Amino acid sequence: VWDQSVRRKQEFSLAEQELILAPDLPDGVHFFGRVILVKEGRSFRLLSSKCTHLGCRINEMEGDQLVCPCHGSRYNLQGVPVKGPAVEPLPEIDFRLEETGGVVKIVWKG
Ligand code: FES
Repeated sequence: VWDQSVRRKQEFSLAEQELILAPDLPDGVHFFGRVILVKEGRSFRLLSSKCTHLGCRINEMEGDQLVCPCHGSRYNLQGVPVKGPAVEPLPEIDFRLEETGGVVKIVWKG
């Protein structure tokens, strides 16, 4: 019970974050600070940009791979490491899509 209470409290302490998507945002990979948005048409994936090796921010692509600038780990667009030293995948972030008057927003807790 104690463990559940702690977890619940942590969930409540996370602030909602949002990303308003430009209407002409092209498909592909977009780096937005702590998150990486992978867009394919109306399909979106949100990944943490924090490298699972030592926590550097991933902010570049090479070919179709996400590259960590610190020690060269590479991840595919699902967040799975394809080259070390990182061995753990990038966490995928749950989000909800809000669409109002043609404006598309991605909202998540983080
Ligand atoms: Fe990303 Fe080391 S922190 S490879």
